[in-house]
Amino acid sequence: MPSLVHTEIETAVKGFLIDQEKMTEVVERMTKEIKMGLAKDTHARAVIKCFVSHVQDLPTGKERGKYLALDLGGSNFRVLLVNLISNSDVEIMSKGYNFPLTLMSGSGKALFDFLAESLSEFCHTHGLENESLPLGFTFSFPLQQQGLSKGILVAWTKGFSCEGVVGKNVVSLLQEAIDRRGDIKINTVAILNDTVGTLMSCAFYHPNCRIGLIVGTGSNACYVEKTVNAECFEGYQTSPKPSMIINCEWGAFGDNGVLEFVRTSYDKIVDKVTPNPGKQTFEKCISGMYMGELVRLVVIDMIAKGFMFHGIISEKIQERWSFKTAYISDVESDAPGEYRNCNKVLSELGILGCQEPDKEALRYICEAVSSRSAKLCACGLVTIINKMNINEVVIGIDGSVYRFHPKYHDMLQHHMKKLLKPGVKFELIVSEDGSGRGAALVAATAVQAKSKL
Ligand code: GLC
Repeated sequence: MPSLVHTEIETAVKGFLIDQEKMTEVVERMTKEIKMGLAKDTHARAVIKCFVSHVQDLPTGKERGKYLALDLGGSNFRVLLVNLISNSDVEIMSKGYNFPLTLMSGSGKALFDFLAESLSEFCHTHGLENESLPLGFTFSFPLQQQGLSKGILVAWTKGFSCEGVVGKNVVSLLQEAIDRRGDIKINTVAILNDTVGTLMSCAFYHPNCRIGLIVGTGSNACYVEKTVNAECFEGYQTSPKPSMIINCEWGAFGDNGVLEFVRTSYDKIVDKVTPNPGKQTFEKCISGMYMGELVRLVVIDMIAKGFMFHGIISEKIQERWSFKTAYISDVESDAPGEYRNCNKVLSELGILGCQEPDKEALRYICEAVSSRSAKLCACGLVTIINKMNINEVVIGIDGSVYRFHPKYHDMLQHHMKKLLKPGVKFELIVSEDGSGRGAALVAATAVQAKSKL
């Protein structure tokens, strides 16, 4: 325990420090929920929905051709052009579009018009306006999929709340917006979750990849299940294909109260100020959208009680969401006893002239929040690996928390090893461009399937 940290601060963050016993309990509870999501009888009341992705083929490495992709799901919106030239040569051109935050809570029509407008701009820039390219739409929200190109939005997550989209087929909404413009000839052939794109993209190079994980703005995982176990798929007993990728939507784990034993009073405050209170409980403990705010809430509590910064509070740190999750990575990137990044973060927050114990305290709080995130994520992956009952697997991972936190990878690996049965081998690999290459690979599957009809 760092000696400079005030015992009051240790007490405040105690709730974030979950031990091995609690982690084992999380795995047990999550196993139950995943089984409920997969089974036809219990799916409707399950919280981890385990949605069928309709992707049944992993990449062979032989996919070729040019595809467009859209990527909507968090803080960024991108349009991509992916050219699968050979199994070692994939050309990707992409452009990020400034996503006006007002669109997140505006009308669905405004959102899809913006997507179509950006797509049209991209096509005109690249001289693609007269080509009828297939498009894969990476749409990273819970979808009830009725085919590769039909997905009904079940609920918004990650701060989105656009009107008139829940309950609708998102592919039609996009296609209608494209057709309303009438200036491009794009055909949306597939819609997919970012976890699925991540898995596919990683599997293109690592044939043993069977799980896709995102730890970014949100958190979720998908995995390759036996088709016969995917009971919500109408062809689960008759399909000639042995596998089905399942989009777990694990972010909703705990929405029925089973995770209260790993939550803190700070989690409850964060939950209340989101547009979806009571929803995405697991995600709110894990992902980048919420981690910084959790740290901020502990810090302002400690300031108010006089245990940090001599009780002096800055205007900035009183603002909701002002402690960015990237700050956690910054603070934890300093070598022990050094405070270069920490000083930068504190000055951005308008907190000046603080002493070493304050900086140690801040680091301690950041570590408490990030280590709980990694532990819970490890629990999720172990639950899936146990469910798959396999001894060796590659896990493709993407998302800003995993990519930028200095110790996330090591923490995840460490806790997974402690929880897994002896002898089970796994590898955690950063998956490059799941929403581009992954979307193109799913679109390729869709095009192939159509050509066989
Ligand atoms: C949220 C979404 C889910 C997505 C995840 C990561 O949990 O509901 O679909 O995969 O964020 O972006």
